[in-house]
Amino acid sequence: MTEYSVRDGVAIIKLDNPPVNALGSKVRSGLDKHLKQANHDSEVTAVVIVGKGGKFCAGADIKEFGGGAKGPWITDIGDYCDKMRKPVVAAIEGMALGGGLEVALFCHYRIAVKTARVGQPEVQIGLIPGGGGTIRLPKAAGLKNALDIITTGNHVPAEKALKMGIIDQIVSGDIIEEGIKFAKSKIHIDTSIVCLRNKHVKVDGDVDKVAEAAMTKVKSKYRGAIAPIFCVRSVMNSARLPYQRGIDLEHEYFRDLQTSSQSQAMRYAFFAERAITKWQLPSGGNYRTKPLPVRSAGVIGAGTMGGGIALCLVTSGIPCILVEQSKEFLDKGMEIIKTQLMGTVRLGKMTADQAKQCMGILRSSVNIDDLKDVDLVIEAVFEDLKLKREIFEKLDRICKPSTILCTNTSTLDIDSIATATKRQDKVVGTHFFAPSYIMKLL
Ligand SMILES: NC(=O)c1ccc[n+]([C@@H]2O[C@H](COP(=O)([O-])OP(=O)(O)OC[C@H]3O[C@@H](n4cnc5c(N)ncnc54)[C@H](O)[C@@H]3O)[C@@H](O)[C@H]2O)c1
Repeated sequence: MTEYSVRDGVAIIKLDNPPVNALGSKVRSGLDKHLKQANHDSEVTAVVIVGKGGKFCAGADIKEFGGGAKGPWITDIGDYCDKMRKPVVAAIEGMALGGGLEVALFCHYRIAVKTARVGQPEVQIGLIPGGGGTIRLPKAAGLKNALDIITTGNHVPAEKALKMGIIDQIVSGDIIEEGIKFAKSKIHIDTSIVCLRNKHVKVDGDVDKVAEAAMTKVKSKYRGAIAPIFCVRSVMNSARLPYQRGIDLEHEYFRDLQTSSQSQAMRYAFFAERAITKWQLPSGGNYRTKPLPVRSAGVIGAGTMGGGIALCLVTSGIPCILVEQSKEFLDKGMEIIKTQLMGTVRLGKMTADQAKQCMGILRSSVNIDDLKDVDLVIEAVFEDLKLKREIFEKLDRICKPSTILCTNTSTLDIDSIATATKRQDKVVGTHFFAPSYIMKLL
């Protein structure tokens, strides 16, 4: 879980928990043990912490949240590191996120390769950083930057992190060699001066005004969400309270949020989104079946749902033919799709070029026969069983035998729709949630 070696008088502690070196309790124990070992070893003058496999650390082991985790905690290890007189350097490749950044922040120095990213994404699972991040990050990056990073959860590229003061130097070349070189250049410097614990938070302007503005912003941007509010409170404590009091309150907030239904739901969604990419049986084994390729698709009905579903398909890179009953409805539907795409560009979620590419793979038609070659059809016409059965009967005749026929019905019996075809095993209910090009739930 952590490897220890000494090279040229510098101890190297390697976090080793593939794939992303998550900071589970065994990794924390190893880190704690090896920091103490390095401190007591008279041959060692400095320490470098790195991550194995080109990644520093992507954060805590989320499975430990919600209870049952064992110490040592990141803040305990940080307290020990704060007292060390040998410089400790975090040498970052890949990412230092969440608990990973908190480890880097208790080190006396941080160096990183240009492609590395840092961040505190805990808010995205309904939490605040709970390992000292809300107190140490403001001391490195200043109050406003820390508020922004912690309340959004956004990643910060290494060069930007350097400008903010989170990272001390960008390096190229072998990260361990660079770490050793950097650490050796710092052995005569008093670590208590560079230790973030002892630094003051840089505040641009009046603390109360900054706090008020940050609170107003998160309340309107993340309406109803609790975690961003506690992120602001805890970060503000870094500027208002002594270090230890801020850390104690951070623990308190973290514990409360951990058991909140919001965080539990967000953690559930986090795991669910990862689980869907794994094509596995409930027992954990793999399916022998290979997923069918969907090289092209058709959508019938260009109303509220059909338009959104077509957009969903083309933004996923699947060429789509949108079929309507009349030219008038088709033009109206296509206009709405264009407006929605432009809105996505305006919000910065897509470039104008990407939007153009999406429109390039979207065809429109008033002839259902055009769907004869597609791999998948999603029907989204009026909620009328007779109409849907007529359409499925037609699709069954027109489409190639392997085509999967889906209905977006909200309430109708899918079996009744399927019996209009001779391929009942290929008829599927696919109920999209509106607006279907935004909602992730299907
Ligand atoms: N609106 C929602 O929030 C929502 C959510 C989930 C599922 N659904 C379901 O999705 C389906 C569509 O709902 P909607 O809200 O998009 O309805 P809508 O009235 O906005 O759109 C239906 C479209 O189907 C077209 N149409 C009707 N007959 C057709 C035919 N023979 N060939 C081609 N096009 C035809 C109509 O011209 C219309 O544009 C319904 O089954 C509905 O229950 C709706």
